[in-house]
Amino acid sequence: MTNKLKYFIGNWKMFGDINSFKIINIINKYCHNSINLHNKKIVLCVPNTLTHFFNQKLKSKHISLGSQNCHHHIGYGPFTGGVSSSMLKKIGSDYVILGHSENRREGETYNLIKKKVISALNEKLNIIFCIGETLDQKKKNKTFNILRQQIKKSLDKKLNLNKIIFAYEPVWAIGTNKVPKINELIKNIIFIKKESKKIFKNKNFKVLYGGSVNPKNVGLLSSISEIDGFLIGGASHSSNKFIEIIKNYYK
Ligand code: PGA
Repeated sequence: MTNKLKYFIGNWKMFGDINSFKIINIINKYCHNSINLHNKKIVLCVPNTLTHFFNQKLKSKHISLGSQNCHHHIGYGPFTGGVSSSMLKKIGSDYVILGHSENRREGETYNLIKKKVISALNEKLNIIFCIGETLDQKKKNKTFNILRQQIKKSLDKKLNLNKIIFAYEPVWAIGTNKVPKINELIKNIIFIKKESKKIFKNKNFKVLYGGSVNPKNVGLLSSISEIDGFLIGGASHSSNKFIEIIKNYYK
């Protein structure tokens, strides 16, 4: 069993209301009673509508809360519907997911993501920076090029890169019950680690895997020591599944 720090991060997406507190409460109790947290980081990225409520009610030492996106503008501003990183920080978020393919698909450009990174770092939020190829790009053998571009065009050497964790999420694996073949996954994770080290001059980044992670496939994924943890979408809506993922990882 590995002793290296592993991340288990839930991405609730557009899910949940105040009754969903029971999910996070059960996960919190599990963390409190049953696991050694010195080598695990548990984060739940919930909708902004729930963060403050969960934070107040939970007061957890075991679970960190995160958000799923932020506005690029720093502080307050005339942006209808926007929520800035400073507003997220104030309601108790310590993490923010940026560059998720579901937002890239809605029109987020490299440049916009870069501005969001800057604003999140300004508030000292930890960033879960999502990258990954589409099925079409994979078929055309463009995966490495795409990953390189996604890293280079939205991150900058001048930023405090210590707060950034990559999440490799092949777009075709999200919500589809498909995961990459083990060899392919190892190759892509190692590519991200090597390439980011090359681009940012010897910096070692953590790289998570995301895309249809569930209690059944996590055992196989645990054989890849290069993976530093998981970004878990659908399965994080169930406290049982989320807990099973952690348990099965260490079986
Ligand atoms: P999934 O989502 O686990 O439901 O595939 C992962 C994600 O989009 O982060």
